[in-house]
Amino acid sequence: MLERRGHNGPAFRFSKEMLSVDNLEVFHGPIKAVHGISFKIDAGQCVALLGPNGAGKTSTISAITGIARATGQVLFEGSDISKTPVEARIQRGISVSPEGRRVFANLTVEENLRLGSAASDSNTKTSIAEFFDTFPILGERRHQSAGTLSGGEQQMLAIARALIAKPRILLLDEPSLGLAPKIVGQIFSLIGDLKAKGITILLVEQNAAQALRLSDYVYFLNNGRIAAEGTAESLGKSDTLMAELTGIS
Ligand SMILES: Nc1ncnc2c1ncn2[C@@H]1O[C@H](COP(=O)(O)OP(=O)(O)OP(=O)(O)O)[C@@H](O)[C@H]1O
Ligand SMILES: [Mg+2]
Repeated sequence: MLERRGHNGPAFRFSKEMLSVDNLEVFHGPIKAVHGISFKIDAGQCVALLGPNGAGKTSTISAITGIARATGQVLFEGSDISKTPVEARIQRGISVSPEGRRVFANLTVEENLRLGSAASDSNTKTSIAEFFDTFPILGERRHQSAGTLSGGEQQMLAIARALIAKPRILLLDEPSLGLAPKIVGQIFSLIGDLKAKGITILLVEQNAAQALRLSDYVYFLNNGRIAAEGTAESLGKSDTLMAELTGIS
């Protein structure tokens, strides 16, 4: 949310809503994983979607990209994309770094990135060389097969691949999962850099403490429903909620 004050007139506010989800229900066959949730992300914000295993976080991401069957409304930059095919959503600028940092293990780092850029139209492609400036570690390993990278490097590659098409919004599904604490720190620091560059981010995490630090607004999902929401500051003040979020009671 940006706030501006005119020279003489009263303060006026405007926000640019990038993504909003209204009454979203997500289904896997007969199973309903998400039960009518609503949330929004303004341009330039980092919004966190937190919650325990099975809460419906990945299902929500899959509904935004169009992979999972869903009802309700998904609005992206003012357009209803609820019925838009997956490819067209990617073309519009929705990009995902999937859960479990799925990279193509037998392809090199560079080949993985080329696949990421193949999904975008040619005008928005970033040159791969330019990209290695931002991710020097990937540059050093550009000819190495992705399966031989460390977990942290694979996560960076998964994020880099999602970024190479210059998305309007980046959906990150549990980027810190299964990584050593030091590497988790590096991944969150990278996400902080992306946020500072103005990239709009939906951050799905179980690591509540780190995600709260980065996020402008937080939704806590449990059993497919939003159990709590607020600014990181306001949620951080609730000991009960923090115990639930972090699994420590
Ligand atoms: N392909 C599928 N087929 C059947 N059920 C599914 C499928 N994917 C997810 N589910 C079910 O939907 C519910 C929500 O799963 P989801 O993967 O969205 O949770 P999550 O919050 O991402 O959990 P995690 O933190 O473990 O990744 C779970 O009960 C899960 O078993
Ligand atoms: Mg998940």
